[in-house]
Amino acid sequence: MTSLVIPKVIGHRGAKAYAPENTLASFHAAADMGIEWVECDVKLTKDSEAIIFHDEELDRCTGTHGLVKDFTLKEIRELDAGSWFGESFVGEKIPTLEELLNTVLERGMGVNLEIKPCPGREVETAEVMLDVATRIWPDDLPPPLISSFQHVSLETAMDMMPEWPRGYLIDEYVKSWKEVADYVKASTVNINGNTSKPDEIEEYVDYNKPVLAYTINQPDKARQLLRLGIDSFFADNPDVIREALDPTN
Ligand code: G3P
Ligand code: MG
Repeated sequence: MTSLVIPKVIGHRGAKAYAPENTLASFHAAADMGIEWVECDVKLTKDSEAIIFHDEELDRCTGTHGLVKDFTLKEIRELDAGSWFGESFVGEKIPTLEELLNTVLERGMGVNLEIKPCPGREVETAEVMLDVATRIWPDDLPPPLISSFQHVSLETAMDMMPEWPRGYLIDEYVKSWKEVADYVKASTVNINGNTSKPDEIEEYVDYNKPVLAYTINQPDKARQLLRLGIDSFFADNPDVIREALDPTN
């Protein structure tokens, strides 16, 4: 297996501070800044197509009332996922996973695919996502990092694609986290950098896998976490955090 090389800064949902999150415009914005990796959220439409979207509800990012799981891909593609963010993004679509992967590949970036299932679709979302991603992603490139808060989704990813690295996402500290991380053979531990306490971070760092922190948009916070041993940062403003962490600053 190739060793896992993760950049210091990962663009969160593309470059969420500058473009509507999880749209192709957002991933291009990250690429335009020279950001090496982006993170995105993968869930399923009603007809089990993999799309890039964070919330279970459509409202916040499309202005349309309803749940993602109740809309077919055709219906989802009719929605405007850009105008809520700004006039220059009117007409941005919710991307399919296939479009996202092709964009990332065209722009020469790496990617962290977060499995973000609607409740009850933990296994299916992982299966469809891995089916699409393994069909598109070239064998000769470092594979995507597959992450999830859902143990079952990570277990499914492990069964389907054991050699692709898995990131175990942890929001609130729980004592049993190491058992889960061991069970899913986690390659990274992806933690909430804003709510984790220093002693908890020490425990994560002592696990001796890269520790990635989300969502870190404040330079001072990034530098503080770096001193505690955090390896990489998910940022909505990845250009700002990259500059903050530059040792020549
Ligand atoms: O993968 C890091 C981060 O994206 C996890 O939280 O809610 O932003 O998907 P969320
Ligand atoms: Mg995410």
